[in-house]
Amino acid sequence: MPVKKPSPGELETIETASRDEISALQLERLKWSVRHTYNNVAPYRERCQQKGVHPDDLKSLSDLSKFPFMTKTDLRDHYPFGLFAVPRDKVLRLHASSGTTGKSVVVGYTRNDLDNWADLIARSLRASGVRAGDMVHNAYGYGMFTGGLGAHAGIERLGCTVVPMSGGQTERQVQLIQDFKPQAIMVTPSYSLVIAEEFERQNVKPEDISLKIGIFGAEPWGEGMRAEIESKLGIDAIDIYGLTEVMGPGVACECIETKDGPVIWEDHFYPEIIDPITEEVLPDGQEGELVFTSLTKEAFPVIRYRTRDLTKLLAPTARSFRRIGKLTGRSDDMLIVRGVNVFPTQIEEQVLRDKRLSGNYQIVLTRDGHLDNVEVRCEVQRELANASDAEIAGIARELQHHIKTNIGITTKVSVLGVESIPRTLTGKAKRVIDERPKQD
Ligand code: DLL
Repeated sequence: MPVKKPSPGELETIETASRDEISALQLERLKWSVRHTYNNVAPYRERCQQKGVHPDDLKSLSDLSKFPFMTKTDLRDHYPFGLFAVPRDKVLRLHASSGTTGKSVVVGYTRNDLDNWADLIARSLRASGVRAGDMVHNAYGYGMFTGGLGAHAGIERLGCTVVPMSGGQTERQVQLIQDFKPQAIMVTPSYSLVIAEEFERQNVKPEDISLKIGIFGAEPWGEGMRAEIESKLGIDAIDIYGLTEVMGPGVACECIETKDGPVIWEDHFYPEIIDPITEEVLPDGQEGELVFTSLTKEAFPVIRYRTRDLTKLLAPTARSFRRIGKLTGRSDDMLIVRGVNVFPTQIEEQVLRDKRLSGNYQIVLTRDGHLDNVEVRCEVQRELANASDAEIAGIARELQHHIKTNIGITTKVSVLGVESIPRTLTGKAKRVIDERPKQD
């Protein structure tokens, strides 16, 4: 398929600016963002004071390394609004994502933040080859997840028709795509293959599907999956990256002319790569943990936010901004199951609620076709050694329901007999058994 290169004048000036111009803009914005956070977010100011750093110490981009990090734990400790930098009545929208336990991570946006977000999604769509006047089928989930509503505003901002389908209801997804004939789709990569299979089932060939471009993210996917999606749907498949704490989708997005890793929109987000153990900043090209500092966010600024995503920074190609290499894993134990972030401790919380269960458990992840399956194995307490099958089934049903309503994922729960789950000799429990094939 011929690839649409952006024509001259179509890009924003900053996308093709020199490195010096970008660095100058970043430094100016960084000074503002650090001061804004210091002045308005008391817990961060205290952390800076303990470390003996002040916004005045920020004279060059590399001075940022003197400042303290922010982590998901900080968000949990100040739940829900303790890290907001503006009064609550200036916050027009809230979103949330999973925390390590029952409390989720809450973020907020001012009118300017929502405006910038829409602009960056519009920029990402343009990088993906979408143009004003196109129709975009949006199958990211609407609600507290940033995917649906985040993408929605940007699709409209570019001047496209948005189909706010959200996730699920595969047959209806396929019906609407056939009836409305959108040029582009935004969806998680794993779910796009479920949609592709429904087309196959209905004997619709890739060349008869109207879609030309797909913009996929929210979970890891590799080149093998890209090739499969492209051939099954007859499209160009583009990688979009983002995370709730930093904004949502659209922190970085690939360009259709190169498809060589998401380009970080560096005029709004300053990236660093650190060694996750020593916390030392690593040079470009070296693999470590990705850290972001927001440069323009008002309601929920982040300074040196540790994403836990492991990757490297790559030199600019299609734009003047640097790119993210393939995400190779995480430096914490967060799992992404069908696009939903899940921490083992969240499942543990639900297991521990039921006093009939021993508290020893295992999470087994498998892949069935393109979708992840989760089995939670747990075991009954000794008093229930002779429990009836009906009682065991009841315990399983209850736990499954608690996990579904509190965490949002469907699981198979297996309640096993006393001490059926292997204990390790080291005493360290192996909680997660991930049998999903590795993404290449
Ligand atoms: O997943 C935001 C998003 C929505 C991105 C739609 C792209 C499209 P969270 O739920 O907070 O936000 O999850 C963020 O998901 O730290 C990565 O581990 C993972 N992730 C996001 N995009 C990609 C990607 C949204 N393109 C976490 N490739 C991040 C691999 C991704 N992993």
